[in-house]
Amino acid sequence: MSTRFITFEGGEGAGKSTQLRLLAERLELRGVRAIATREPGGPPAAEFLRGVLLDGTQDFAPLTEMMLHFAARAEHVTRTIQPALAAGAWVLSDRFFDSTEAYQVYGQGGDPASYAALKTLISPHPDLTLMLVVSPEVAAAREAARGRAADRYDRMGEDFRRRVTEGFLAIAAANPARCVVVNGDGGAEDVAARIFDVVAARFL
Ligand code: TMP
Repeated sequence: MSTRFITFEGGEGAGKSTQLRLLAERLELRGVRAIATREPGGPPAAEFLRGVLLDGTQDFAPLTEMMLHFAARAEHVTRTIQPALAAGAWVLSDRFFDSTEAYQVYGQGGDPASYAALKTLISPHPDLTLMLVVSPEVAAAREAARGRAADRYDRMGEDFRRRVTEGFLAIAAANPARCVVVNGDGGAEDVAARIFDVVAARFL
């Protein structure tokens, strides 16, 4: 049976969480059963690792940090994603392995070969990845409006953010069959309509 595993990727303030929710609502109206999940996170042990990664109390060596993201991901695919797909549901994930490549490899200078090796351990890979790209001004305004506490990665500065965004665009260019870059500037409903068109053209 063909699966529908869709990931949302992008930097802080790109609108991933909002767009994931709006896509789930539109799919529900079509009678599609979709589960919404996120990384790092999902099942309890992966949410525990999210706390470890984001609370900022530890300074990890680059390989440790990358492996912790993959450890959380192993929990997520085994306990959440694989069972949902096997039961016939669609899976919508707020971030997946492209975030590790963008943040840990492009952003933090982690080893690409280690990333590639860890990626071979993870299954399934997404059927479609929506890369949300917004202008830095829009991202900053959305982050400010959200008013949540900054996590470790939020505090890594402007150059880091720029490298992450360049990373996502490079990943999209290298994986044209899987990745679609979506302009996330503008109203949420407009962006949601663009995303639904992409999804409907592929899967409905
Ligand atoms: P967010 O999903 O609420 O944006 O927070 C997750 C943070 O973790 C975000 O700053 C991106 C970062 N992250 C990584 O650095 N590597 C990863 O593999 C994942 C999934 C997230």
